[in-house]
Amino acid sequence: MGFNTRQIHAGVTPDPVTGAILTPIYQTTTYVQDSVDEYLAKGYSYSRSSNPTVRALEQKLANLEGGADATCYGTGMAALQAVYLAFLNAGDHAIVSDVVYGGTYRLSTKVFSRFGVSFSFVDTSQPGQLRQSLRPNTRLILTESPANPTLKLTDIAAVSAIAREAGVLHAVDNTFLTPYYQRPLELGADLVVHSTTKYFDGHNATVGGAVVARTKELDQALRFVQNAAGMILSPQAAFLTLQGCKTLSVRLERQSANALAIARFLEGHPQVERVCYPGLESFPQHELARRQASGFGAMLWFEVKGGVAAGKALMDGIRVWSLAENLGSVESLITHPVTMTHGAVEPAERLRVGITDGLVRASVGMEDVEDLIGALDAALALTRR
Ligand SMILES: Cc1ncc(COP(=O)(O)O)c(C=O)c1O
Repeated sequence: MGFNTRQIHAGVTPDPVTGAILTPIYQTTTYVQDSVDEYLAKGYSYSRSSNPTVRALEQKLANLEGGADATCYGTGMAALQAVYLAFLNAGDHAIVSDVVYGGTYRLSTKVFSRFGVSFSFVDTSQPGQLRQSLRPNTRLILTESPANPTLKLTDIAAVSAIAREAGVLHAVDNTFLTPYYQRPLELGADLVVHSTTKYFDGHNATVGGAVVARTKELDQALRFVQNAAGMILSPQAAFLTLQGCKTLSVRLERQSANALAIARFLEGHPQVERVCYPGLESFPQHELARRQASGFGAMLWFEVKGGVAAGKALMDGIRVWSLAENLGSVESLITHPVTMTHGAVEPAERLRVGITDGLVRASVGMEDVEDLIGALDAALALTRR
Protein backbone atom coordinates (compact mmCIF):
# COMPACT_ATOMS: atom_id res chain seq x y z
CA MET A 1 0.00 0.00 0.00
CA GLY A 2 1.02 3.58 -0.54
CA PHE A 3 2.64 5.85 2.02
CA ASN A 4 -0.48 7.97 2.63
CA THR A 5 -2.53 4.87 3.46
CA ARG A 6 0.18 3.38 5.65
CA GLN A 7 0.83 6.57 7.62
CA ILE A 8 -2.82 6.42 8.69
CA HIS A 9 -3.44 2.69 9.14
CA ALA A 10 -0.13 0.88 9.77
CA GLY A 11 0.29 -0.46 13.30
CA VAL A 12 -3.20 0.51 14.39
CA THR A 13 -6.18 -1.82 14.73
CA PRO A 14 -9.54 -0.88 16.29
CA ASP A 15 -9.53 -1.41 20.05
CA PRO A 16 -10.60 -5.06 20.62
CA VAL A 17 -12.86 -4.15 23.58
CA THR A 18 -14.74 -1.05 22.35
CA GLY A 19 -13.94 -0.73 18.67
CA ALA A 20 -12.38 2.70 19.30
CA ILE A 21 -10.77 3.68 16.02
CA LEU A 22 -7.80 5.31 17.76
CA THR A 23 -5.49 3.07 19.77
CA PRO A 24 -6.36 4.23 23.31
CA ILE A 25 -3.85 5.65 25.78
CA TYR A 26 -3.17 2.50 27.80
CA GLN A 27 -2.38 4.31 31.04
CA THR A 28 -1.40 1.30 33.11
CA THR A 29 1.66 0.04 34.90
CA THR A 30 0.92 -3.64 34.82
CA TYR A 31 -1.17 -6.25 33.02
CA VAL A 32 -3.09 -8.99 34.81
CA GLN A 33 -2.01 -12.48 33.71
CA ASP A 34 -4.44 -15.36 33.26
CA SER A 35 -2.23 -17.83 35.12
CA VAL A 36 1.41 -18.54 35.85
CA ASP A 37 1.45 -21.04 33.02
CA GLU A 38 -0.10 -18.56 30.60
CA TYR A 39 2.17 -15.70 31.61
CA LEU A 40 2.47 -13.16 28.78
CA ALA A 41 -0.38 -14.80 26.83
CA LYS A 42 -1.62 -11.34 25.77
CA GLY A 43 1.93 -10.08 25.16
CA TYR A 44 2.23 -7.52 27.96
CA SER A 45 3.68 -7.77 31.48
CA TYR A 46 4.84 -4.35 32.72
CA SER A 47 4.87 -0.98 30.96
CA ARG A 48 8.65 -0.54 31.07
CA SER A 49 8.87 -3.66 28.92
CA SER A 50 6.01 -2.87 26.53
CA ASN A 51 2.83 -0.82 26.28
CA PRO A 52 0.09 -1.22 23.62
CA THR A 53 -0.07 2.50 22.70
CA VAL A 54 3.69 2.70 22.32
CA ARG A 55 3.72 -0.61 20.45
CA ALA A 56 1.26 0.76 17.87
CA LEU A 57 3.63 3.67 17.21
CA GLU A 58 6.64 1.34 16.98
CA GLN A 59 4.86 -0.78 14.40
CA LYS A 60 3.78 2.25 12.39
CA LEU A 61 7.30 3.71 12.30
CA ALA A 62 8.83 0.34 11.32
CA ASN A 63 6.34 0.11 8.48
CA LEU A 64 6.97 3.64 7.21
CA GLU A 65 10.78 3.24 7.21
CA GLY A 66 10.60 -0.31 5.82
CA GLY A 67 12.38 -1.89 8.81
CA ALA A 68 11.96 -5.20 10.61
CA ASP A 69 10.77 -3.40 13.76
CA ALA A 70 11.20 -0.20 15.79
CA THR A 71 11.72 0.84 19.40
CA CYS A 72 10.50 4.12 20.88
CA TYR A 73 12.15 6.24 23.57
CA GLY A 74 11.36 9.28 25.69
CA THR A 75 13.43 11.62 23.49
CA GLY A 76 15.47 11.58 20.31
CA MET A 77 18.60 11.74 22.47
CA ALA A 78 17.48 8.58 24.31
CA ALA A 79 17.07 6.89 20.91
CA LEU A 80 20.66 7.80 20.00
CA GLN A 81 21.80 6.68 23.42
CA ALA A 82 20.08 3.32 22.88
CA VAL A 83 22.08 2.86 19.66
CA TYR A 84 25.32 3.57 21.53
CA LEU A 85 24.36 1.32 24.47
CA ALA A 86 23.27 -1.55 22.25
CA PHE A 87 26.19 -1.57 19.83
CA LEU A 88 29.26 0.00 21.50
CA ASN A 89 31.50 -1.37 24.25
CA ALA A 90 34.46 0.09 26.12
CA GLY A 91 37.42 0.17 23.73
CA ASP A 92 35.25 0.60 20.64
CA HIS A 93 35.48 3.46 18.16
CA ALA A 94 32.59 5.23 16.43
CA ILE A 95 32.59 7.63 13.50
CA VAL A 96 30.05 10.45 13.64
CA SER A 97 29.29 13.06 10.95
CA ASP A 98 31.19 16.25 11.70
CA VAL A 99 27.96 18.24 11.49
CA VAL A 100 25.32 16.80 13.80
CA TYR A 101 22.76 18.08 16.26
CA GLY A 102 24.64 19.64 19.22
CA GLY A 103 23.12 17.13 21.63
CA THR A 104 24.55 14.22 19.64
CA TYR A 105 28.01 15.79 19.84
CA ARG A 106 27.55 16.32 23.60
CA LEU A 107 26.30 12.75 24.21
CA SER A 108 29.37 11.40 22.37
CA THR A 109 32.10 13.67 23.74
CA LYS A 110 30.82 14.32 27.26
CA VAL A 111 29.05 11.07 28.19
CA PHE A 112 30.11 8.01 26.20
CA SER A 113 33.77 9.05 25.99
CA ARG A 114 33.78 8.63 29.81
CA PHE A 115 33.06 4.93 29.32
CA GLY A 116 35.99 4.16 27.06
CA VAL A 117 34.35 4.71 23.68
CA SER A 118 36.30 6.94 21.28
CA PHE A 119 34.73 9.10 18.59
CA SER A 120 35.98 10.65 15.35
CA PHE A 121 33.93 13.49 13.87
CA VAL A 122 34.42 13.05 10.16
CA ASP A 123 33.17 14.76 7.02
CA THR A 124 31.01 11.82 5.94
CA SER A 125 30.14 13.65 2.71
CA GLN A 126 33.68 12.65 1.62
CA PRO A 127 33.80 8.83 1.32
CA GLY A 128 37.62 8.97 1.05
CA GLN A 129 37.92 10.69 4.44
CA LEU A 130 35.51 8.18 5.90
CA ARG A 131 37.55 5.21 4.68
CA GLN A 132 40.72 6.70 6.17
CA SER A 133 39.00 7.17 9.53
CA LEU A 134 38.05 3.50 9.90
CA ARG A 135 40.04 1.69 12.58
CA PRO A 136 40.15 -2.02 13.45
CA ASN A 137 37.94 -1.27 16.48
CA THR A 138 35.37 0.88 14.59
CA ARG A 139 31.90 -0.55 15.28
CA LEU A 140 29.49 2.19 14.22
CA ILE A 141 29.13 5.00 11.69
CA LEU A 142 26.47 7.53 12.64
CA THR A 143 25.48 10.01 9.95
CA GLU A 144 22.95 12.80 9.93
CA SER A 145 21.66 13.83 6.52
CA PRO A 146 20.65 16.58 6.01
CA ALA A 147 22.74 17.66 8.97
CA ASN A 148 21.57 20.05 11.67
CA PRO A 149 22.05 22.97 11.10
CA THR A 150 24.23 23.36 7.95
CA LEU A 151 22.17 20.85 5.89
CA LYS A 152 25.32 19.14 4.60
CA LEU A 153 24.34 15.83 2.98
CA THR A 154 25.94 12.43 3.29
CA ASP A 155 25.62 9.99 0.39
CA ILE A 156 23.80 7.30 2.40
CA ALA A 157 24.25 4.52 -0.18
CA ALA A 158 28.01 5.21 -0.51
CA VAL A 159 28.56 5.24 3.26
CA SER A 160 26.42 2.11 3.71
CA ALA A 161 28.55 0.29 1.13
CA ILE A 162 31.75 1.30 2.96
CA ALA A 163 30.23 0.25 6.29
CA ARG A 164 29.13 -3.13 4.96
CA GLU A 165 32.55 -3.81 3.45
CA ALA A 166 34.18 -2.98 6.80
CA GLY A 167 31.64 -4.95 8.85
CA VAL A 168 30.52 -1.80 10.66
CA LEU A 169 26.94 -0.72 11.40
CA HIS A 170 25.60 2.38 9.69
CA ALA A 171 22.95 4.38 11.58
CA VAL A 172 21.32 7.39 9.92
CA ASP A 173 19.56 10.19 11.77
CA ASN A 174 16.64 10.79 9.37
CA THR A 175 14.91 13.39 11.52
CA PHE A 176 15.04 16.19 8.91
CA LEU A 177 13.42 14.34 5.99
CA THR A 178 11.44 11.47 7.54
CA PRO A 179 10.61 8.30 5.56
CA TYR A 180 8.19 10.29 3.42
CA TYR A 181 11.16 11.86 1.62
CA GLN A 182 14.13 9.61 2.45
CA ARG A 183 14.39 5.92 3.39
CA PRO A 184 17.93 5.10 4.54
CA LEU A 185 17.24 1.36 4.97
CA GLU A 186 16.44 1.11 1.25
CA LEU A 187 19.79 2.83 0.59
CA GLY A 188 21.62 0.17 2.62
CA ALA A 189 21.73 1.57 6.18
CA ASP A 190 21.24 -0.73 9.19
CA LEU A 191 19.48 1.61 11.61
CA VAL A 192 17.39 4.77 11.30
CA VAL A 193 17.17 7.17 14.22
CA HIS A 194 14.47 9.79 14.73
CA SER A 195 13.61 12.57 17.04
CA THR A 196 9.84 12.02 16.72
CA THR A 197 9.56 15.37 18.51
CA LYS A 198 9.97 16.92 15.07
CA TYR A 199 7.98 15.98 11.94
CA PHE A 200 6.23 12.82 13.21
CA ASP A 201 4.61 14.78 16.04
CA GLY A 202 4.51 17.96 13.97
CA HIS A 203 2.52 20.00 16.48
CA ASN A 204 5.04 20.92 19.20
CA ALA A 205 3.16 18.64 21.59
CA THR A 206 5.69 15.99 22.67
CA VAL A 207 9.30 14.92 22.87
CA GLY A 208 10.11 11.42 21.72
CA GLY A 209 12.52 9.27 19.75
CA ALA A 210 12.69 6.06 17.78
CA VAL A 211 15.13 3.65 16.19
CA VAL A 212 14.03 1.54 13.23
CA ALA A 213 16.16 -1.55 12.64
CA ARG A 214 16.84 -3.38 9.39
CA THR A 215 16.74 -6.81 11.06
CA LYS A 216 14.96 -8.47 13.99
CA GLU A 217 18.37 -9.18 15.58
CA LEU A 218 19.33 -5.51 15.61
CA ASP A 219 15.91 -4.63 16.98
CA GLN A 220 16.26 -7.25 19.73
CA ALA A 221 19.54 -5.70 20.89
CA LEU A 222 17.82 -2.30 21.09
CA ARG A 223 14.71 -3.70 22.79
CA PHE A 224 16.92 -5.34 25.42
CA VAL A 225 18.56 -1.98 26.21
CA GLN A 226 15.20 -0.16 26.12
CA ASN A 227 13.90 -2.46 28.88
CA ALA A 228 17.16 -2.87 30.81
CA ALA A 229 17.85 0.86 31.02
CA GLY A 230 14.16 1.86 31.23
CA MET A 231 14.34 4.24 28.27
CA ILE A 232 10.70 4.33 27.24
CA LEU A 233 8.16 6.65 25.65
CA SER A 234 5.01 7.49 27.62
CA PRO A 235 1.66 6.28 26.27
CA GLN A 236 0.38 9.88 26.10
CA ALA A 237 3.30 10.97 23.94
CA ALA A 238 2.88 7.86 21.78
CA PHE A 239 -0.83 8.64 21.33
CA LEU A 240 -0.16 12.21 20.20
CA THR A 241 2.65 11.09 17.91
CA LEU A 242 0.34 8.47 16.35
CA GLN A 243 -2.09 11.26 15.45
CA GLY A 244 0.72 13.39 14.03
CA CYS A 245 1.90 10.55 11.78
CA LYS A 246 -1.42 10.51 9.92
CA THR A 247 -0.79 13.88 8.27
CA LEU A 248 2.99 13.62 7.87
CA SER A 249 3.07 13.62 4.06
CA VAL A 250 0.59 16.47 3.70
CA ARG A 251 2.43 18.62 6.21
CA LEU A 252 5.82 17.92 4.69
CA GLU A 253 4.65 18.73 1.18
CA ARG A 254 3.11 22.02 2.27
CA GLN A 255 6.02 22.96 4.54
CA SER A 256 8.58 22.09 1.86
CA ALA A 257 6.72 24.14 -0.77
CA ASN A 258 6.73 27.06 1.67
CA ALA A 259 10.45 26.53 2.31
CA LEU A 260 11.31 26.64 -1.38
CA ALA A 261 9.34 29.86 -1.88
CA ILE A 262 11.04 31.42 1.16
CA ALA A 263 14.48 30.30 0.02
CA ARG A 264 13.92 31.92 -3.37
CA PHE A 265 12.68 35.11 -1.70
CA LEU A 266 15.75 35.25 0.56
CA GLU A 267 18.07 34.50 -2.36
CA GLY A 268 16.86 37.64 -4.10
CA HIS A 269 16.86 39.89 -1.02
CA PRO A 270 19.55 42.62 -0.86
CA GLN A 271 19.97 42.27 2.93
CA VAL A 272 20.73 38.54 2.73
CA GLU A 273 24.35 37.47 2.43
CA ARG A 274 23.78 33.74 1.85
CA VAL A 275 20.91 31.30 1.82
CA CYS A 276 21.12 27.55 1.96
CA TYR A 277 18.31 25.17 1.00
CA PRO A 278 18.81 21.77 -0.69
CA GLY A 279 16.07 22.60 -3.22
CA LEU A 280 17.97 25.59 -4.62
CA GLU A 281 20.15 25.02 -7.66
CA SER A 282 22.87 26.96 -5.78
CA PHE A 283 22.97 24.28 -3.02
CA PRO A 284 26.39 22.60 -3.42
CA GLN A 285 24.96 19.06 -3.17
CA HIS A 286 21.74 19.74 -5.06
CA GLU A 287 22.24 16.71 -7.33
CA LEU A 288 22.72 14.37 -4.36
CA ALA A 289 19.62 15.86 -2.71
CA ARG A 290 17.64 15.01 -5.84
CA ARG A 291 19.13 11.53 -6.10
CA GLN A 292 18.72 10.16 -2.59
CA ALA A 293 15.53 11.85 -1.41
CA SER A 294 12.15 12.52 -3.02
CA GLY A 295 11.81 15.97 -1.43
CA PHE A 296 14.02 18.73 -0.06
CA GLY A 297 12.38 19.22 3.33
CA ALA A 298 11.43 22.36 5.19
CA MET A 299 14.67 23.41 6.86
CA LEU A 300 16.86 26.24 5.57
CA TRP A 301 19.38 28.69 6.88
CA PHE A 302 20.62 32.12 5.92
CA GLU A 303 23.04 34.84 6.93
CA VAL A 304 22.06 38.47 7.05
CA LYS A 305 24.31 41.31 5.88
CA GLY A 306 25.61 43.18 8.92
CA GLY A 307 26.81 40.09 10.74
CA VAL A 308 25.75 38.81 14.12
CA ALA A 309 24.11 42.08 15.28
CA ALA A 310 21.90 42.19 12.20
CA GLY A 311 20.98 38.52 12.60
CA LYS A 312 20.00 39.09 16.22
CA ALA A 313 17.90 42.15 15.26
CA LEU A 314 16.02 39.96 12.78
CA MET A 315 15.45 37.10 15.22
CA ASP A 316 14.38 39.41 18.07
CA GLY A 317 12.09 41.52 15.89
CA ILE A 318 10.37 38.95 13.69
CA ARG A 319 6.63 38.37 13.92
CA VAL A 320 4.52 35.32 12.95
CA TRP A 321 7.69 33.19 13.28
CA SER A 322 8.63 32.14 16.84
CA LEU A 323 12.17 32.35 18.19
CA ALA A 324 12.39 28.85 19.65
CA GLU A 325 14.29 25.57 19.68
CA ASN A 326 12.66 22.62 17.92
CA LEU A 327 11.85 22.11 14.27
CA GLY A 328 9.39 20.28 12.07
CA SER A 329 6.21 21.66 13.57
CA VAL A 330 3.33 23.35 11.77
CA GLU A 331 4.44 26.57 13.52
CA SER A 332 7.35 28.31 11.78
CA LEU A 333 10.33 28.60 14.09
CA ILE A 334 13.52 30.58 13.86
CA THR A 335 16.62 29.53 15.79
CA HIS A 336 20.11 30.86 16.45
CA PRO A 337 22.13 27.60 16.56
CA VAL A 338 25.21 29.14 18.22
CA THR A 339 23.30 30.21 21.32
CA MET A 340 20.53 27.61 21.16
CA THR A 341 20.75 24.15 19.56
CA HIS A 342 24.55 23.96 19.15
CA GLY A 343 25.70 25.76 22.31
CA ALA A 344 27.22 22.45 23.47
CA VAL A 345 29.69 22.39 20.54
CA GLU A 346 33.03 24.14 21.21
CA PRO A 347 33.36 27.44 19.25
CA ALA A 348 36.41 26.24 17.27
CA GLU A 349 34.65 23.01 16.25
CA ARG A 350 31.50 24.96 15.31
CA LEU A 351 33.48 27.27 13.04
CA ARG A 352 35.43 24.38 11.53
CA VAL A 353 32.20 22.77 10.30
CA GLY A 354 30.56 26.01 9.15
CA ILE A 355 28.22 26.86 12.04
CA THR A 356 28.93 30.58 11.99
CA ASP A 357 27.81 33.11 14.60
CA GLY A 358 25.51 34.80 12.07
CA LEU A 359 23.72 31.63 10.92
CA VAL A 360 19.93 31.87 11.25
CA ARG A 361 18.12 28.51 11.05
CA ALA A 362 14.54 28.43 9.87
CA SER A 363 12.08 25.58 10.34
CA VAL A 364 9.33 26.44 7.91
CA GLY A 365 5.78 25.68 9.04
CA MET A 366 2.39 25.51 7.42
CA GLU A 367 1.21 29.09 7.65
CA ASP A 368 0.32 31.04 4.48
CA VAL A 369 3.61 31.59 2.73
CA GLU A 370 2.75 35.24 1.99
CA ASP A 371 2.53 35.85 5.76
CA LEU A 372 5.85 34.11 6.39
CA ILE A 373 7.59 36.05 3.63
CA GLY A 374 5.98 39.33 4.71
CA ALA A 375 7.20 38.78 8.27
CA LEU A 376 10.73 38.02 7.05
CA ASP A 377 10.70 41.09 4.81
CA ALA A 378 9.67 43.31 7.72
CA ALA A 379 12.29 41.76 10.01
CA LEU A 380 14.99 42.17 7.36
CA ALA A 381 14.14 45.87 7.20
CA LEU A 382 15.08 46.06 10.91
CA THR A 383 18.59 44.84 10.08
CA ARG A 384 19.34 47.94 7.96
CA ARG A 385 19.28 50.25 10.98
C1 LIG B 1 18.74 15.77 13.96
C2 LIG B 1 18.36 15.62 15.40
N1 LIG B 1 18.54 14.45 16.02
C3 LIG B 1 18.23 14.28 17.32
C4 LIG B 1 17.72 15.31 18.08
C5 LIG B 1 17.40 15.08 19.53
O1 LIG B 1 16.02 14.92 19.68
P1 LIG B 1 15.22 15.25 21.03
O2 LIG B 1 15.25 16.74 21.19
O3 LIG B 1 13.86 14.70 20.77
O4 LIG B 1 15.94 14.57 22.14
C6 LIG B 1 17.49 16.55 17.48
C7 LIG B 1 16.93 17.66 18.26
O5 LIG B 1 16.87 18.79 17.81
C8 LIG B 1 17.82 16.72 16.10
O6 LIG B 1 17.66 17.88 15.48
